[in-house]
Amino acid sequence: MKESIETIKKKFNSELAAAYDLETLEKVRVRFLGKKGEITSLMKSLGQVTAEEKPLLGKELNQFKKSAEKMLEERKTELKSNTSLSLWEKERLDVTLPGKPFKIGRKHPLISVLKEMEEIFTCMGFQVVEGPDVEMDYYNFEALNIPQDHPARDMQDSFYITPDVLLRTHTSPVQIRTMEAQAPTLPVRVIAPGKVYRRDDDLTHSPMFHQVEGLVVDKGISMGDLKGTLLLFAREMFGSDREIRLRPSYFPFTEPSAEVDILCIICDGRGCRTCGDSGWMEILGSGMVHPKVLRISGYDPENVTGYAFGMGVERIAMLKYGIDDIRTFYNNDLRMLKQHQIS
Ligand code: DAH
Repeated sequence: MKESIETIKKKFNSELAAAYDLETLEKVRVRFLGKKGEITSLMKSLGQVTAEEKPLLGKELNQFKKSAEKMLEERKTELKSNTSLSLWEKERLDVTLPGKPFKIGRKHPLISVLKEMEEIFTCMGFQVVEGPDVEMDYYNFEALNIPQDHPARDMQDSFYITPDVLLRTHTSPVQIRTMEAQAPTLPVRVIAPGKVYRRDDDLTHSPMFHQVEGLVVDKGISMGDLKGTLLLFAREMFGSDREIRLRPSYFPFTEPSAEVDILCIICDGRGCRTCGDSGWMEILGSGMVHPKVLRISGYDPENVTGYAFGMGVERIAMLKYGIDDIRTFYNNDLRMLKQHQIS
């Protein structure tokens, strides 16, 4: 009998400690104090012990029953007010222990550069707009005055989905979409960042990369506005004494067109391997929006003019951080991501 009491005490204590909710607690109560409960049964069997033992065992059993009832009651109150740490948690949680250090995620260096570019242009009054990655041939080529036989239209160079739908090969189609939606309201002053896709894959080309397109349309916009804006951009991005130069070029959707170089950020114009000894690095394509492009998008080229530019984000990031393999951006190698903790 005496041993049974001890065993049941131990059992009761451990089951009580493991009761984390009211439902389990009630089960514990029934198991020990219910009509057929273990303590109740023990009390019933008191009749079988000798008259000598009875008073002592009876007393002990009664005390155990009372304390069990009290403990169950206390545990119940505690579980009901679950706002504070339970007794169980208090015993196991040492709040004075030092916390576990956790790693904080950061922006990918490429996204960080993209955001920096967005910031520079929004500070100059540009609005950020977006267009679809899956684009219609009309917006990607046709409306941009890119002729049917232009090499960019080749199946070899672009990812076609159907004969009229493809993954956009540049962000320039957003120029058309923006003007169409806004015409004839002036001014148009937007940048369009996003992913573009080409069938290319080597050290400096990836089948998917990022561009930022710029477009300004208003009365009296000139090549001077384009140059001033891009000079300010280059200085914000690469340092306040950076020089730029415009070289005549050709794009079907601008006339005249220019490619823009910055003074090499490695050698400052003296000539090095990175700039191919020229002292300059090409960073973007640009020009005055072609009259045909303005007209097809709802603006009258007799009354308004505009400029546009487009640049590769990976290229800018590679120049800025001296990265020579474009795939570095997509490998998600933690060592590289840690090395370029930009912000
Ligand atoms: N879309 C051209 C490309 O991907 C870049 C470009 C050149 C954009 C001239 C323009 C521009 O807006 O005016 O190569």
